[in-house]
Amino acid sequence: MLTWRRSRPDGSEPAEGDVDGGRGAEPACPVRGEAGAGRPPAAPPAGDRPPGTADLAAAGEFLKLFYLENPQAGSIRPRVREVRAQIDDTGTYTHTPQELAYGARVAWRNSSRCIGRLYWKSMRVRDRRHVDTPEGIAVESVGHLRESATRGKIRPTITVFAPERPGVPGPRIWNEQLIRYAGYRRRDGTLLGDPRNAVLTEAVRRHGWRGGPGTPFDVLPMVVTGGDGRTLLATIPGDAVLEVELSHPSYPWFAGLGLRWHAVPAISNMALEIGGVRYPCAPFNGWYMGTEIGARNLADADRYDMLPVIAERLGLDTSSERSLWRDHALVELNVAVLHSFDKAEVTISDHHTESRRFLTHLEREELAGRVCPADWSWIVPPMSGAATPVFHRYYDDVQLSPAFVHHADGLPSGI
Ligand code: ARG
Repeated sequence: MLTWRRSRPDGSEPAEGDVDGGRGAEPACPVRGEAGAGRPPAAPPAGDRPPGTADLAAAGEFLKLFYLENPQAGSIRPRVREVRAQIDDTGTYTHTPQELAYGARVAWRNSSRCIGRLYWKSMRVRDRRHVDTPEGIAVESVGHLRESATRGKIRPTITVFAPERPGVPGPRIWNEQLIRYAGYRRRDGTLLGDPRNAVLTEAVRRHGWRGGPGTPFDVLPMVVTGGDGRTLLATIPGDAVLEVELSHPSYPWFAGLGLRWHAVPAISNMALEIGGVRYPCAPFNGWYMGTEIGARNLADADRYDMLPVIAERLGLDTSSERSLWRDHALVELNVAVLHSFDKAEVTISDHHTESRRFLTHLEREELAGRVCPADWSWIVPPMSGAATPVFHRYYDDVQLSPAFVHHADGLPSGI
């Protein structure tokens, strides 16, 4: 099942397998992240408020929204009094399970870079606010992976771990997603696997991970820091990692490329902010849209860079850009992604369908009298943009709350 590598308790010498240098008030991640081009705005500075305290005005705004959109919840007044008293007493307050679930769903609804928001109301919310040990977080994250992908049916799911509280920064997962493929830098400077995760891979190796079998698709261990500051590496059991091997409906050689991708994209390094309370560890997933895998992860020159290989196998003329060999290879790779997920009966959407759904979502939001924030450059799919209806219009891009935000410290250099 899970295998653990423990960090040392504060102050002692690093042990074999240690991934944490110990930390003070702020979590210190062993792992240096990418600069994060094109990331959503980081969490705003807390201003004069001590870390972990909730702002009464932000709490009030959220409660207003919650009671407005959930008339069955009754009168807001007693709840506002209660929340004010909790903030006065403790510096923060505790969401009801209903507030938490609604807040998480609205954070998704407010994610201006996500095309898949039509089903925001149906996100499953796993309330794990009582969990803040690194072991507990790893176990529950593995549970999340299993529950969100039963028999190939992917269900949008979020697991919410302990919030930040005054004096307690809350737990963190340092991997960008629960499932990430290693990127091993070889001595000759070439790279095996996913270059996006090269820095994370080096860090976990430095701190005791022996490495996987050495394929281009080795799943990295999770790096988890608990509310108590302990950090551990947790291996994700293979049976919690649903993957699809890629083949092409017309080209038998395609399967021989040995390409695969995981079925669940579970973002694990963003904080969920609801009404002034920050949940620093709240992994969430939807299902994939094919182009994320076929037009980015496997295609980008700084990722798996498969277009030249596929073009060559297709016998295309790569000596001139004007043969449009890249475009042709891109289409066949994306056909293979959709075909393979369908064959494996794993949920995936295509960019034409998802674009139409997004416009339905916009209409519904308008009818409900709300602005739907959207970032054109993220909403328009990375291939055949103008062949999808989302290309041909502009959007409002406003920052609304509740929200998913990047941690201000990203993945810092740490130790
Ligand atoms: N684009 C990211 C990836 O390829 C995943 C981002 C979230 N995607 C989603 N369909 N929910 O891994």
